[in-house]
Amino acid sequence: IQSKKEQLISIHEAATAYYHQILMNTVTGEKALQYLLRRGFTTELLEEYQIGFSPPNKTTTHQILKRDHYSDELLRESGIFSDRTDTNELLDRFGSRIIFPLRNEKGKVVAFSGRTLPNDEETSDFDFHEAKYLNSPETIIFSKRNFLFNLDKARSQMRKTSEVVLFEGYMDVISAWQSGVTNGVASMGTSLTEEQIRVLNKIVDSVTIAYDGDRAGMEATNKAIELLSIGNRFELSIFPLPFGMDPDDYIQEKGMQAFRESIVSQREMVFQFHSRFLKRQMDLDSESNRLQYLEEMLKRLVTVDSIIEREMYLNELAEEFHLDAAVLKKQLQEYQSNYL
Ligand code: UTP
Ligand code: MN
Ligand code: MN
Ligand code: MN
Ligand code: MN
Repeated sequence: IQSKKEQLISIHEAATAYYHQILMNTVTGEKALQYLLRRGFTTELLEEYQIGFSPPNKTTTHQILKRDHYSDELLRESGIFSDRTDTNELLDRFGSRIIFPLRNEKGKVVAFSGRTLPNDEETSDFDFHEAKYLNSPETIIFSKRNFLFNLDKARSQMRKTSEVVLFEGYMDVISAWQSGVTNGVASMGTSLTEEQIRVLNKIVDSVTIAYDGDRAGMEATNKAIELLSIGNRFELSIFPLPFGMDPDDYIQEKGMQAFRESIVSQREMVFQFHSRFLKRQMDLDSESNRLQYLEEMLKRLVTVDSIIEREMYLNELAEEFHLDAAVLKKQLQEYQSNYL
């Protein structure tokens, strides 16, 4: 006999097969399929991730799952259905959305994320009424704080390389996977949690952050660096995306090989990220901003552990601002004595 958790997982596996079948083999799924193929998904990739489509008719999912004799109470608890109680029929909360099955570390589907389809008439895929992605609610088999998308697939490569690449979106993880970067995971659109960091810490020593190259992405990177730096558990690097691009955009535009290579060759250290981040926030044409930037960066240098690294960055700063490195060093020493 199945435990309640096992039953909930069975419900998700059945729903996954149903959604996938709708996407791949029906007229109802045609538009979604075309959209995904246009975005560079191959059939193999859609199979690999068992991506699906939930039909606009929100009542059919319930009818399909009822055939397996699950109680409505249990079906409600799965999180697949919307919380509306004014109807006898359970309504699929993901109706008309592309379905990404969310698998736990053992590869079992425990939740879904549904993406809206862009409207025909609209060139932008931003919809003012509905969130672009909708995730399952918290259930006894799914907790966002603990969840990392793609961990089941990425784990072996993470172990092998002792390294993980952190992405913002599922689309980025999947595109990266297709291009051969198979040690990528994503958190759930929220900032990294202590639980997720603990999971990563058991598997890898190095983390490369590859968040979106927009303001929100850079701010999230800054936050992630802060969280990952606690306790000095990881070697950190950052993959700098061109402004306004995410990893998936990068792969579509520059190709899979370029991504595979540049994620290694172009990644920067934390200090360089902060330099880029600050420069984007402040206008260095003004004297007082330049001064502020320099002071800020020198204060950050205090926390760089390696003497060689510190010396290198100090010289770079001196060169950039046409200053005597000895002067900067003096200032640095002052900050160091305050810090101790
Ligand atoms: P993005 O908006 O960067 O998504 O959000 P994306 O991966 O680039 O998606 P495409 O390319 O437009 O299809 C990154 C992540 O933030 C969460 C999701 O986890 C998503 O993968 N998110 C975003 C939500 O949960 N809800 C939203 O409405 C938007
Ligand atoms: Mn299939
Ligand atoms: Mn984003
Ligand atoms: Mn994105
Ligand atoms: Mn994207």
